[in-house]
Amino acid sequence: MKTIDDLQVAGRRVFVRADLNVPLDGTTITDDGRIRAVAPTIAKLVERGAKVIVASHLGRPKGAPDPAFSLAPAARRLGEILGQDVAFATDTVGESARSVTAGLTDGQVAVLENLRFNAGETSKDDAERGAFADQLAALAELYVGDGFGAVHRKHASVYDLPQRLPHAAGDLIATEVGVLKKLTQDVKRPYVVALGGAKVSDKLAVIDQLIEKADRILVGGGMAYTFLKAKGHEVGISLLQEDQVPACLEYLARAEKRGVEFVLPVDVLVSAEFPDLKTKAPAHPDIVAADAIPADKEGLDIGPKTRELYASKLADAATVFWNGPMGVFEHPDYAGGTKAVAQALLDSDAFTVVGGGDSAAAVRLLGFDENAFGHISTGGGASLEYLEGKTLPGLAALED
Ligand code: 3PG
Repeated sequence: MKTIDDLQVAGRRVFVRADLNVPLDGTTITDDGRIRAVAPTIAKLVERGAKVIVASHLGRPKGAPDPAFSLAPAARRLGEILGQDVAFATDTVGESARSVTAGLTDGQVAVLENLRFNAGETSKDDAERGAFADQLAALAELYVGDGFGAVHRKHASVYDLPQRLPHAAGDLIATEVGVLKKLTQDVKRPYVVALGGAKVSDKLAVIDQLIEKADRILVGGGMAYTFLKAKGHEVGISLLQEDQVPACLEYLARAEKRGVEFVLPVDVLVSAEFPDLKTKAPAHPDIVAADAIPADKEGLDIGPKTRELYASKLADAATVFWNGPMGVFEHPDYAGGTKAVAQALLDSDAFTVVGGGDSAAAVRLLGFDENAFGHISTGGGASLEYLEGKTLPGLAALED
């Protein structure tokens, strides 16, 4: 895979596929981690005199312009981080994109509007995707892939466009891949994995792989309740994917056979109601044993005994991969489990990798120093699919 250093970028229009898919509250960015993560690549290109065209998706608009998903706030934030004006094209390959990119001088930066405002970006039809990639290719002379969070998507700007232009991987992708390689090749042991998040179905494929690689797997978040059900416990009105119970049972049995410690919550915080995340009004949860969840209550965080247990299971790790919050961390009464796991990572001497998405946002929103972790990935789904051993279209397309 070539890097930016292999490209002659001075005076040339360089298309940077970034992942600026940041969480927004209206037009306010609530976590700018992904913009900060790609900014060094853009700054390097600027310094070398490139005309930089930055493009990304944001959210999941339906293939047509939708102001709620505009990249304008992300473009503004990028300008603040870079400390220079950043032009904004109000479309992707239309009049605005053509004139804004044609008007760039050396060292200037422009951001295109959300790529998913064009149906060709995510189309399953090769010809439709290819036609959009042709239009994007006409805007630039070189391609830099640096949107790690989207490399698992076979989308026009991620997969088809690099096949049409001389290309290289940006510094963010190079770093992300380097870190994930450490988790798949010659991993230092004990290797402990903490998995959370809402749906167990999103994590089955990675659990399948991790049972072969990890020494210990700790489970929290909404997905834990399907495992508790598989162990024969009632889970009240907690998140439950009944159809996944057989798969959970099989993984528990396989883990035992392979000597992998599979650790489930021993206590949980429960309530009859989901908390109000806007007002953050006190929720007054009860603490109950994981095998005694009342029929009319749902589990919303791991309990204090589980926090201690998980901290002790992380204490002697040499390598940790953590993906997914342990509870509804957006509400202060249910943030304790996620905080405890983050703190345990900081307290350990292990090489710690925080998988992207919610867990990365949680670390920052809960006030932890992100530099104290070994690596905070910008890719949630992408890092999981990498660990599953899948071929990621956006990485395959960057191979020479
Ligand atoms: C992410 O948030 O994981 C990436 O930006 C990819 O977004 P997507 O799941 O909408 O493709």
